[in-house]
Amino acid sequence: MAQKTLLKGRVLSFTGSPFEGEPTDAVEFSEAVVVEGGHIAAVGDADTLRSAHPDAQVVDHGQHVIMAGFVDAHVHYPQTAMIASWGKRLIDWLNTYTFPEEMKFGDPTYAAEIANRYLDLTAAHGTTTMCSFCTIHPESVDAFFAAAQARNQRVVAGKTCMDRNAPEGLRDTAKTAYDQSEVLLEKWHRVDRLTYAITPRFSPTSTPEQLEAMGALWAEHPHCLMQTHLSEQTDEIAWVRELFPEARDYLDTYEKFGLLGSHGVYGHVIHLEARERDRLREVDAALIHCPTSNTFIGSGLFDMTGLMHDGHRVGLATDTGGGSSFSMLHTMASAYEIGQLRGAPLHAAQLLWLGTVGSARSLRLDDRIGNIALGMEADLVVLDLASTPAIAQREACADDIWEAIFPTIMMGDDRAIAEVWIGGAAVA
Ligand code: GUN
Ligand code: ZN
Repeated sequence: MAQKTLLKGRVLSFTGSPFEGEPTDAVEFSEAVVVEGGHIAAVGDADTLRSAHPDAQVVDHGQHVIMAGFVDAHVHYPQTAMIASWGKRLIDWLNTYTFPEEMKFGDPTYAAEIANRYLDLTAAHGTTTMCSFCTIHPESVDAFFAAAQARNQRVVAGKTCMDRNAPEGLRDTAKTAYDQSEVLLEKWHRVDRLTYAITPRFSPTSTPEQLEAMGALWAEHPHCLMQTHLSEQTDEIAWVRELFPEARDYLDTYEKFGLLGSHGVYGHVIHLEARERDRLREVDAALIHCPTSNTFIGSGLFDMTGLMHDGHRVGLATDTGGGSSFSMLHTMASAYEIGQLRGAPLHAAQLLWLGTVGSARSLRLDDRIGNIALGMEADLVVLDLASTPAIAQREACADDIWEAIFPTIMMGDDRAIAEVWIGGAAVA
């Protein structure tokens, strides 16, 4: 029989969206959760669950919050080693720091080393699923999926395709991008907990022929996600206009090649025009907010309130290594600050929802991960709300649970992560 564990603590589940109505009404706290065979077998009152599951091993987390593991909806695992590189804006940052580092991933040993380093770091920060860009090298995709598979971890990833405006050694072609992506997709998609995302980097680094080939591949595999970047910096948008003079706007450079759809996942989406917003909403595409990256690279302020009000599907992400942290707590803090700069502070319940359910919805995985509920996969994080003296002294005078949680969002890091469960096993 599968090992059964009963975890006691302050178990946080979402029963609805905290962006509709009173944010706290969307949250329910329970006393315990039972994990069995990689799934959540029960949630509820501790004594009742104890009687119903007398064979379960009991782990008492006291006042710690037990919630779904964080879901990071847009990352570049190959940028792990060059995170926090100084002083550039997007295009110069790519050319100066990113492309030279990504060049190294043709070496499978290096790719495996960074994939494992990245998954170790993110697990320590409470992130249990991420959607990652790899590099143009198939070796980088194999390394990431193999590392995740060995950990029984749910991840989404794909080969980053580029056939122009990138250095020699970091370019494929329309045909090799299609062929290699297809081989990788067939090798990894829906194997164990892995899913493949078709991944054109962004319009400036793909010829129209390559975008067309990616669109054709997606049409043949519509159940796959398609991830890319959209409207991150104003200089980038001006460059897209020069490269695609016929296009109505940036989104049109994807749309006209079949790269707009419900399973599209678009990173950054800051400087959107009205037509782009409407089209993204119409097709129910996912928009990913990358707040630490958007401030670090100097990109701009995402319109969370407006986009949520209009009914967009929104997720949250670190954008490692354009983002300046591996921590989804830090990312939530940054989203809060950007909300403040736009005159709309986000509630702690909204921040936690974005980093779990919101991101899982964006990746079309919310029926499996991102929440604590019966039958969901057991990817969990246990949060210590008093992990440092600075946080503890603020938490000690909190009037309610939300005031107790918020200092950990604003000031917490990997020290706040008391325990992490991936696929029903405690890993960190
Ligand atoms: N746009 C195209 N590539 C990238 C990347 O690697 N990081 C970020 N932040 N934006 C991009
Ligand atoms: Zn990115």
